[in-house]
Amino acid sequence: MYRFVFTQVLSRFDPEDVHHLTVRALRLLSVTPAVKRLVHRRLAPRDPALRVRAFGVHFPGPFGLAAGFDKDAGCVEAMSALGFGHVEVGTITAHAQPGNARPRLFRVPRARGIVNRMGFNNAGAGAAARVLSRPRGVPAVVGVNIGKTKVVPESEAVQDYVTSARALAPLADYLVVNVSSPNTPGLRDLQAVGLLRPLLAAVKEVADATPRRTPLLVKIAPDLADDDVDAIADLALDLGLDGIIATNTTIRRDLGAAGRGGRPDEHWDETGGLSGRPLKDRSLEVLRRLRARVGDRLTLVSVGGVEDADDVWERLLAGATLVQGYSAMIYEGPLWAHRIHRELSRRLRRRGVTDLREVIGLTAG
Ligand SMILES: Cc1cc2nc3c(=O)[nH]c(=O)nc-3n(C[C@H](O)[C@H](O)[C@H](O)COP(=O)(O)O)c2cc1C
Repeated sequence: MYRFVFTQVLSRFDPEDVHHLTVRALRLLSVTPAVKRLVHRRLAPRDPALRVRAFGVHFPGPFGLAAGFDKDAGCVEAMSALGFGHVEVGTITAHAQPGNARPRLFRVPRARGIVNRMGFNNAGAGAAARVLSRPRGVPAVVGVNIGKTKVVPESEAVQDYVTSARALAPLADYLVVNVSSPNTPGLRDLQAVGLLRPLLAAVKEVADATPRRTPLLVKIAPDLADDDVDAIADLALDLGLDGIIATNTTIRRDLGAAGRGGRPDEHWDETGGLSGRPLKDRSLEVLRRLRARVGDRLTLVSVGGVEDADDVWERLLAGATLVQGYSAMIYEGPLWAHRIHRELSRRLRRRGVTDLREVIGLTAG
């Protein structure tokens, strides 16, 4: 049904217009308590075997919504009701900013991918804090992803992240330092350990000072060299971080070409970060590398090219405790997360698995 609507209607409109319309519809769902609760009862994961505990937080299922969809935290309840086990909001910056000029979001449907150069369009940390302070009508696990304000120079980046962390860490189930988006000039340079160490140490001090001690993770790019992945893993262990989210979008265009059905997509070469199916193999590769390096000493969150329950299963086996997705939802529709959890639940039952911990890292070396 959704596929028909997508190919016949939605794909004819500008993807960002469709996104804004979707967000508005989801907000409407959020302000209608009875409907929201009903949808939650029907679609949220309920099988106890799907529950996972990571860094002291209980998740109703392992599959969550990756950052970038809910930039201003307005859809947390709706996305949880639709079946996501957690919602990562953001990237949020200390100061409101408009992002890059449109068009900045492109479908690459033959490759089943997305290219974006949104540039952290968001209403700022203060506005997000006001939204996140409101009581919720359905349970939701919320990660808050923070990034650097574009106009702030690199020399003041630490203070900028700290400002966001102060406003948002008390309201987050976990906090993410995003240093991996390709659309803010210079941002990914912060992945160099010499710059990353003081940044993460300063944000960690803020996260540690909240009443519940907010867990802190760092989100990394798929385009790092293997040695740099190892170096960040070592740094995360050294600083006592709770986990790593891998990966963000790629600036490479030599990935996943086999999935393009011979003919290149019209927008394949647009400037920006590529996500979805072309990212799948590299994202899994980074996960495996991280697992080999840190074992179960850090929580690994795998994201990039996840399309179905098979993909989630593979990431769990490879050592991810949580898995996220975004791009495939554009092609699969609003029931995507619900279907993935339902299929995972069946799979666990068939194998007689009652605790997801029996699966996590099973095929990791
Ligand atoms: C339109 C769009 C916007 C995104 N914005 C952000 C963002 O603001 N912050 C972030 O950390 N990741 C952002 N991402 C990256 C996703 O969170 C995710 O890491 C990446 O898309 C790979 O997952 P996927 O293949 O399931 O989409 C964005 C992705 C897309 C497609």
